[in-house]
Formats: sequence, structure tokens, C-alpha cells
Amino acid sequence: MTRCVVLGGGPAGDVAALHAAQRGADVVLIEERELGGTCLNRGCIPTKSLLATADVYRKIEHAATYGIEVASPKINVPAMLARKNDIVMTMRRGVEGACERKKVRVIEGHGIIDGAEVAVGDERIGFDTLVVCVGTAPKGLPFVDMTHERILTSDDILDLEVIPETLTIIGGGVIGCEFASLYATLGSKVTVIEALPRLLAGIDGRVVGQFQALMEAQGVTFLTGTGVSAVSTKGNRTTTVLEDGTGVDGEFLLVAVGRAPLTRGIGLEEAGVEVDERGWIVVDSLLATANPAIYAAGDCIGGLQLAHLASAEGARAVDNALGIEVRAMDRTVVPSCIYTHPEIAAVGLSEETAKAQGLDVQLTQTRFRGNGKALAEGEPDGVATLVVEKGSGIILGATVMGVHAVEVIHEIAVAISDGLTGEELGEIIHAHPTVSELIMDTAQHSLKLAPYLS
Ligand code: NAI
Repeated sequence: MTRCVVLGGGPAGDVAALHAAQRGADVVLIEERELGGTCLNRGCIPTKSLLATADVYRKIEHAATYGIEVASPKINVPAMLARKNDIVMTMRRGVEGACERKKVRVIEGHGIIDGAEVAVGDERIGFDTLVVCVGTAPKGLPFVDMTHERILTSDDILDLEVIPETLTIIGGGVIGCEFASLYATLGSKVTVIEALPRLLAGIDGRVVGQFQALMEAQGVTFLTGTGVSAVSTKGNRTTTVLEDGTGVDGEFLLVAVGRAPLTRGIGLEEAGVEVDERGWIVVDSLLATANPAIYAAGDCIGGLQLAHLASAEGARAVDNALGIEVRAMDRTVVPSCIYTHPEIAAVGLSEETAKAQGLDVQLTQTRFRGNGKALAEGEPDGVATLVVEKGSGIILGATVMGVHAVEVIHEIAVAISDGLTGEELGEIIHAHPTVSELIMDTAQHSLKLAPYLS
């Protein structure tokens, strides 16, 4: 029986371990904190739980527009956090249960690679195959005291027991925008500072422009194209000084400037694994490292930091390591979802990335305002954009912003995966009224054949 050790129990490591067990390996999973990793314990799941509270709050605040009179709602922060913690615990127990059922031995502790073994405290676990899935942790800024109680990372803010009157966020990436959306809804005055000229690098620029305007209408201030030169604290205030000397005050400051890999001091270099200057593990297209017995998957190999991609990589690394259906990791179709209000979801190429690849493309855009289901839900803001290759009509990508965007994006993922054209997608009958129907409309509109739009 192949002895497979997995180091790190997040979305990459959990799936790698469970998948290796399904493939008949003898599996040990080593995790120093909680199973489920960042996503389940400090990322995707807790943030979505809090955002669900914000959604309910927003709906109640706007209840009159739905024909319901209610007194003004009030957030019970301890109850909101307890609900979030319950959801995290339920999910974590699910991972623990899956490991038990599949006879994955879970060891709690810090693993250090030593030859063909991993040392965890006094115990040494031998491996034929090791899959390293150690993930990342929030980065701080060198000139900011990240230990100060009013200066928070995305880990710390999940347990914040107050709704700040004012919140400053450094970083207008995915984490910065999700927390801006959350706290703006809960009543904070939020200011986001982003060094680049625009928010959400990597997402279609036109959609981001419209997103920013919608967030500004919700009261969020964005200061883009400026870095930060200093941060000071006094009493219950933080002051973030911009490059031009302007100070931005906030009761709390969230630093959301990216995440760094947890790859130092775990014996990787000694084992012959290449680690680049920023700490990312270097893997080939099969997810193999320079040591033939060691593979790596998930956020610690750099690139897109997404839980679902990490899980897919975990399973692929295991199969490649065990010599089962060996193939390169395919990242052509990876949906990317941002859980702001409105939601943004993208898959495949945007107009910008397609053009950068030298492709001749056609962009079609439709508005949620013309979709009956979105209007009925009280969510008229949003756009769907579809990118097809000129001539062949093959669908290359889409960016959708609006209600349920993170759900409807998957049909475009399937369409790209199956090589469908806009015409073929437009011919698939979609139920009415649904938000998904807007995808059919957009595909038809790309041919100027959408009955109500073209
Ligand atoms: P990020 O890399 O997405 O964004 C960080 C932003 O901070 C960048 O736009 C950068 O230009 C800006 N920045 C850096 N230093 C700065 C400074 N000194 N002053 C002002 N701006 C500065 O990283 P983020 O948001 O921390 O997220 C980390 C990772 O987690 C990302 O890869 C993200 O995709 C992933 N993630 C994904 C989620 C999702 O898919 N829903 C949710 C949360 C995180």
C-alpha cells in the first residue's frame, strides 16, 4: 500500500488526503490548526456566514419597498458571530467525519520534512509520496504594527465584537472589497485605499468601474492609485497616512494587501524542493516539485488563490503522484467569485485578457435591469458580459455582476469546457423567470437575436 502523507489540511490537503484514500493509499494528514484550513475556518465560510447576515439586514432595511412595514432592525453582534461559528463547526465536523470514514489518520501538529519522513513532535511518519498543501497567511505591512488591537487582518476581523462607526481598509482586492461590502451594509463608514489605479485587479475593467459606482452609492469611499506611507494609532482611532500626506481616520484598520505562503522552516529546501524568492513552491505542470516524491497543491504554489482550484489541484497532485490518469493541471476553466453586493463572478477570458492573447473577440453586455426575476427580487443592478471569438463564435469567457452571479457563472464554465458557441448556448431553453435566463439572452444578443434586447 502506498504511504501518502499530506501536509496541511485546507481545501487542497483535505481533498488530497480523502482522494488518496479513495485511490487505495494509506493516508496520514498532518494539520497544526483546524481541519478545513483558511477557507473553512478563516475565509470563505465564515465570511459568507457574516455576509448572509448583512443580506438579511439589507432586505429588512428595504422591507418597505417590498410592501412590509417593520421597525428599524438592529444587529446583535454576538448572535451574528455565534451563528458564523456554528456554521464553521458544522463544516469542520463534516471534514473530520469524512476523514474518519475514509480511514485517513489525522495528526494535529507542525510537520517538518526530514528525508523520506515528516517529523511531528516526537513522531516520525514515513512516506512514499508527500503532498504539501500548507497554504498562506495574511500579509502585514512592514511599517504597520500588526499586533495593535485596532489594526486587523482578515483573520482578526472575523471575531470583531463591534460594528465600527468608521473602518479603513488598505487593499482594494477581493478581501478588501468583501469586507467593505459587509461593513458598509452593517452601517460602518468605510474607506478603501488601493495602490493600483483600479480595484479588483484581474476582473474586467468595465464591470469593476460599474461595481465601484454601486459601492459608492452604498456610501463606501474608494481612494485608488495611492499607497500608504504611515499608520498611527491614538486612543480608539487609527490614522492611515496616504502618499500625499492626507490622513484617513478609522476606528479600526483592516490590512488586506494579499497573503504570503507558509513554506519557510518546514524542510522544503533541505528536501530538494525549489521555493522561489517570495516563498511559493515551484511545481511543474503535473504539480510535482524538484523532489520526485513530493508534490504540492493549493495556495502555497502561488497563482490564483481559490479554494475550489486548491481542491482540484489536491486531487490532481495525488493522481499524478500515484501514477493514476497522469495529466497536467488544467486551469482553463476556473470560476472566480467575489461575494460583494452586488456579487461578481468571472470565468475564462475577459475582453482584456483575450485581447492580450491576440484573440479577435466580440463582447456582448446585457443589464440585470431587463431581467424579471432580478427585478422581482429587488436587485436590478448588474450586468452580464459574454466574450466570444469572432468568426467561430466560441465562448471564451464571461463576467457577471449582479444577484446570484456566483451561481449562474457555472453554466458558462460548462459551456466553455464543452466548447459551445454563443449560438449553441442561446438555443438552450432556460426557465423563465430566472436570472440564468439572462445568460441565454446575452448569448442570443451576441447574434443580435435576443427578442427583447437586440
Ligand atoms: P489581493 O492580492 O486580491 O488584493 C490586495 C490588494 O492590495 C491589491 O489590489 C494591491 O494592489 C493592494 N495593496 C497592496 N499593498 C498596498 C498598499 N500598501 N496600499 C494600498 N494598497 C495596497 O489580496 P487579498 O484581497 O488580500 O486576498 C488574498 C487572496 O485571497 C487573493 O488571491 C484572493 O483572490 C483570495 N481570496 C479570494 C476570495 C474569493 O474568491 N471570494 C475571498 C478572499 C480571498
